Amino acid sequence: MHLKKITKAVFPVAGMGSRFLPATKATAKEMLPVVDKPLIQYAVEEAVAAGITDMVFITGRNKRAIEDHFDKAYELEATLEAQGKNELLRIVQEVVPSHINCIYIRQAEPLGLGHAVLCAQPVIQDEPFAVILADDLIEGEVPVMKQMVQVFAKHQCSVLGVQEVPRSHTKQYGIVSTSNIEPKIDKIHGIVEKPKPEDAPSTLAVVGRYILTPRIFKHLHEVKPGTGGEIQLTDGIAALMQYESLLAYSFDGTRYDCGSKLGYLKAQVAFGLKHKELREEFAAYLKTVN
Ligand code: UTP
Repeated sequence: MHLKKITKAVFPVAGMGSRFLPATKATAKEMLPVVDKPLIQYAVEEAVAAGITDMVFITGRNKRAIEDHFDKAYELEATLEAQGKNELLRIVQEVVPSHINCIYIRQAEPLGLGHAVLCAQPVIQDEPFAVILADDLIEGEVPVMKQMVQVFAKHQCSVLGVQEVPRSHTKQYGIVSTSNIEPKIDKIHGIVEKPKPEDAPSTLAVVGRYILTPRIFKHLHEVKPGTGGEIQLTDGIAALMQYESLLAYSFDGTRYDCGSKLGYLKAQVAFGLKHKELREEFAAYLKTVN
């Protein structure tokens, strides 16, 4: 059998980000920083660590800031160099390693996550690929997408990153019903989008990490818009499941839901307490706040 490798990651960054207005009025939610790095850069670094080389950004009305962030910044670099600020120059130059390709596709209207993923089809074509939602910031000793690529390498089928959530939170997630096949890995039998706690088939929630086979595009083409006129990725996955095996992978790592204000603040505290320049002073400061 020809073993397939994951070389492309899709980053949907065209959402409205309405929970962060007015901060997201003129910039994408994924450009919000945690300490000193935008969410999208953490996501790209996770993909690079997984051996992925082609980064496909699905951008919306706020595309400029993201393109500029991953582009060469000639004027800024020249200024930092002239000022002898070599450490800052290095940080700016290392935003993306030189072997990485960045590709931008415009989602003309925010028609949903499923539609955003479908926009990547011309670049992905007939290969399995990763999807990373940058607003789910996940800190893992082994980066989570790297863990998932290893699961894919062994099983050669779609893999969804999942996490147990309190039953009262099922309405915020796609929820899977599964049977366990090996430690941390379950076979998925069903998936429902945002069920009420009393209707949820389990408390295993799909969070922002996916490895999908290219057959997903066929199903996304056929998905009818659901709530709010959006094309849901979950509906495409439910259709894919009728034809292929899908696995749920309970990753090792701590997830911060940076699409919500509370999750975003928690991430700032956690990453602030680990930041090499700030951690001591920040920890001392936090002790003074009740
Ligand atoms: P969310 O469900 O978090 O929606 O999208 P949102 O619009 O970004 O944020 P709120 O709810 O208005 O505050 C999940 C991911 O899918 C992307 C978002 O950018 C985010 O990474 N997305 C969503 C798109 O790229 N296009 C869409 O049409 C919808």
